[in-house]
Formats: sequence, C-alpha cells, structure tokens
Amino acid sequence: MALPFTNSPQQRLPQGNSSFLIQESTLDDWKRIVDLSADTQRWAMAYDDFPVWKKAFGEQNAELLVAKKPDGQVIGFVSIAKFGPDIAAVGNYYVHPAYRGQGIGMQLFDKVTQTSLAEGRNLSLNAAFLLSKKYADNGFDKYPDWGLRAHVVTGANGAEIATLVHNSKIVSLKAVEFDQIATYDRSVAANVDRSEWLEAWINHPTGRCKIALDTTNHVIGYGVVREVSQNRLVFGPLYANDQGTAAALIKVILEEVDDYPSREIHFLSPSTNEEMNELTAMLSRPRGTYEHRGDDGICQFTKKVLKVDVRKVYAVADVALCFI
Ligand SMILES: CC(C)(COP(=O)(O)OP(=O)(O)OC[C@H]1O[C@@H](n2cnc3c(N)ncnc32)[C@H](O)[C@@H]1OP(=O)(O)O)[C@@H](O)C(=O)NCCC(=O)NCCS
Repeated sequence: MALPFTNSPQQRLPQGNSSFLIQESTLDDWKRIVDLSADTQRWAMAYDDFPVWKKAFGEQNAELLVAKKPDGQVIGFVSIAKFGPDIAAVGNYYVHPAYRGQGIGMQLFDKVTQTSLAEGRNLSLNAAFLLSKKYADNGFDKYPDWGLRAHVVTGANGAEIATLVHNSKIVSLKAVEFDQIATYDRSVAANVDRSEWLEAWINHPTGRCKIALDTTNHVIGYGVVREVSQNRLVFGPLYANDQGTAAALIKVILEEVDDYPSREIHFLSPSTNEEMNELTAMLSRPRGTYEHRGDDGICQFTKKVLKVDVRKVYAVADVALCFI
C-alpha cells in the first residue's frame, strides 16, 4: 500500500450523498488521485506513474479502480499489479477522509483482489502500521521480521556522503547490458523475474537511474530517483551491496537534479537497515534536516513471505506496487 509519509490533517469535503460507482481509472482520474492523496496524506506519487505501471505490467496486469460520486468526483481508489503467474501486489488504497467508514474501501479492496485470489496468487501489500492487524485478519497474515521506515531529508548536500564512497564506479543505463541489471534485481527481489517492470521503471519519464559497478564491471547496485507531487524526490529502488555503493549512487543521481538541495527527498527503507539512518543524517548536513520514523509499515503476504535480500535494500522500489 502506498504509505503516508507523515500523518496528515483530515481535510473534509462537504458531506453529501455517498452513493458511488466503481470503475477503471482514466489518466485524468489518476492525476486527481495524485493531487488528492498528496493533499490529504502527503503521499508521494507522480502523474507519470500510471502510464509507467500500465507499460511495466501490461494493460491486463495492472488495474487501478476508482470509486466515483455520480458527478464524477473521485472519492477512493485502489490498485493491483501482477508479477508473473504467482504474485500480485495491492497498493494505492485510499478513501477520502469525508467518506471513510461507510464501506467504500472494503468494496474497492474486495473487487480489486477478487481475480488474483481466485487465481491462487500470493498477494502482497505494504501496510500502514495502524492497519496491519486488520489486513492480517483479512488474509494478509504472513510477515517478514522487518518493517518499513520513512526517511525524509531537506536541504541535502552530497559532500559528506562522498566520504563513504570507495571504489564503486557509477555509470549510466546505456553503459550496461539490461540483462546484467535484471539479474542483479532478481538477486535482490527473491528471484522473481521483474524484467518488464524493471525496464519501464528505470526509464520512468521523471526518473533518473544510475548503475553501480565493481572494479571487474559487475553490477553491485542500482538506483532510481523520480520527481513526484509537490516538487519532491523519491528514491526507489536504491539497491546496493554496501553503504559506500549506496552513497555513491545517491550522490551521482542527485547531481543530475539541479535544484535537489531545495527539494524534500524521500526514502522508504527496511527498518533493519541502520546504515540508512546514518546516510540520510549525513546527506542532510551541514544545513538541512532529516526525519527518521520507525514502524511506518510492513510488507504483508497472503501465502508466504518472499525471501528478499533485505541487506541490499536501501530504499524499496515502489511502495505502491512492489513487494520490495
Ligand atoms: C484504509 C481506508 C482506504 C479504508 O477505507 P474506508 O472506506 O474507511 O473503509 P471501510 O469503511 O470499507 O472499512 C471499515 C472498516 O474495515 C477496515 N478495513 C478497511 N479496509 C480493509 C482491508 N482491506 N482489510 C481489512 N480491514 C479493512 C477499516 O479499517 C474499518 O475498520 P473499523 O471499522 O474497525 O475502523 C481509508 O481509511 C484510508 O484512506 N485511510 C488513509 C490511507 C491509508 O492509510 N491507506 C492504506 C495504506 S496501507
């Protein structure tokens, strides 16, 4: 599930007749969703995410449902994406604050998961911590032994993290065979072949991607930052064999974003990755700020926990529609 990065004030729409219909989202609906969820939850998504998901998973394998009032107003949404034959990730689960507690969310959720459950897939979601127990009661009762933690940096400066960089070489996408990146991704992501998703995501229209190589030109990490609503930047994925490589990726990627010191930068990382606390603190010095939050959420599954190589995860790929 897309996680709220901060607790938001409850904005209320005028209450009215809550009759609604559920339908497939259009691109215009998606743009409203991005703005609405940024305003009320501070969710960090991009207008371009929707076309990228459709390309990444295929039209049939990525579904975004919206609940609409008869006048067309979007009041809720949820999405699902199918990875290969066995896995499906649920995300972007939201109902406008003024319409919560009336059963709209549950109807959206049941509808979007129906087919994947019938297909016998292992479903995953990134649960906001407060909802974790409810999801478990609803079948998402398999948990890893780590949670998710949001890191938010403002006033970033790459100078201090540069001291962590050792002998990794950071190169552009073009310098590496795609298969090498896909093999590395697979080694982190529980051996799931995510090639199609990967190709679309590393070429995200508002994204910048770099690859880390060792001295023998083997891939030892890759990172993507994308520009999202409210002028923010979100890293994801940031996978690396060690902290120095993660630091090198952050530094070089940010150098391609002219005004990065004036932007809020987000990472959502496994809570076991203590190195991210240090990295984001260093990134914020000498004049910026950073916020580390514990227990922001947890990735839950219906059938079994996928054994990802969590030591290499400095930021999850996409909180909405990825299991890591
Ligand atoms: C989560 C959310 C979408 C639920 O929408 P809703 O329309 O209020 O939900 P409903 O009225 O259908 O559900 C009513 C109850 O079922 C629970 N519920 C909703 N969806 C559920 C699900 N998929 N599985 C289990 N329980 C669920 C609700 O928490 C609520 O429980 P309560 O009555 O004990 O408080 C809505 O609260 C929301 O947008 N929250 C903020 C965004 C967010 O945190 N999204 C989820 C991120 S993981």
